[in-house]
Amino acid sequence: MKHTITRKEDLNAADYVIDVIAPKVAKKFRPGNFAVLITVPNGERIPMSIERAEGDKITMYIKRLGKTSRELDTWDVGDALYKVIGPMGTPPPLKKYGNVVFASDLVCGHAENNAMCRELGKIMGNHIISIQSFPDKSQIYPENELAKSVADEFILCTEDGSVGRKGHYLDIMQELLEERKIDQVFAGGGIPPLQKLSILTKKYNVPVYTTVRQIMVDATGMCGSCRVFIDGEQKLACIDGPMFDGHKVDWEAAISRLAMFKGKEAEAMQCYNEKMKAVV
Ligand SMILES: Cc1cc2nc3c(=O)[nH]c(=O)nc-3n(C[C@H](O)[C@H](O)[C@H](O)COP(=O)(O)OP(=O)(O)OC[C@H]3O[C@@H](n4cnc5c(N)ncnc54)[C@H](O)[C@@H]3O)c2cc1C
Ligand code: FES
Repeated sequence: MKHTITRKEDLNAADYVIDVIAPKVAKKFRPGNFAVLITVPNGERIPMSIERAEGDKITMYIKRLGKTSRELDTWDVGDALYKVIGPMGTPPPLKKYGNVVFASDLVCGHAENNAMCRELGKIMGNHIISIQSFPDKSQIYPENELAKSVADEFILCTEDGSVGRKGHYLDIMQELLEERKIDQVFAGGGIPPLQKLSILTKKYNVPVYTTVRQIMVDATGMCGSCRVFIDGEQKLACIDGPMFDGHKVDWEAAISRLAMFKGKEAEAMQCYNEKMKAVV
């Protein structure tokens, strides 16, 4: 199977979107799932949230971050990935909740925000509020890539106030929780804000599902690298998550595990930069 790229566009200066042919993944996809990409034989496995599945294609939002995401950014429509594995993970129940908020502040969270709002909005009795948080005007995604069209209410915010409401999604959440009856919150993106959101929603006694991103090596439940502690019990983000009840997550443990591979990643990026210099 050729996992050909059929669309590749910039979302902003840091993030891009790709559509890739992956019929088996597309057929079984449920919002909240992710895929594992292997770009070249013997390449590293990188997990990516699936923003949508249509026909035989899946859509992913990717940040130009380290070796693999930058290397993939040099590819174009017509190039093919070596493997696209999935769908992976166990999404939270997609059911009637009532007033639902999905909040996001980073590429993976925005992809999940779009996917979950699109699906939860189809369920009778749900009222969907999407909050998407960006640092400033220059980093906002094109309108058709925002959750605007799939939510009943859409709140765009920028931390410097250059577009939409001023502030982070945490500021907007605080207001919403004070003013309205919210039945369920979902959120994805940066880990420290997710920890803060979990503390905030607990104060208002509102349940929250948060995406607990961890370093995934095999993403099949074999290596244990993505383990997280939920209510003191060990779970695997690649199999049991990555979305978990935020009130039960051991956030300190999750944050310190995320920092474990920083040295190796810097090494890989340096090798890649040196290789690119040699090519030029
Ligand atoms: C469930 C899940 C969903 C994700 N969804 C997205 C998404 O939609 N868009 C997106 O841009 N990124 C997403 N990520 C993060 C993405 O996997 C990493 O950014 C990617 O692996 C970076 O690889 P790299 O070689 O470019 O950078 P590297 O230099 O290798 O890593 C840069 C940073 O990416 C993270 N990372 C690296 N390798 C892994 C790994 N194997 N597993 C998890 N995190 C890793 C670490 O935080 C690291 O510091 C997701 C991660 C997980 C676990
Ligand atoms: S990535 Fe190996 S167990 Fe989850």
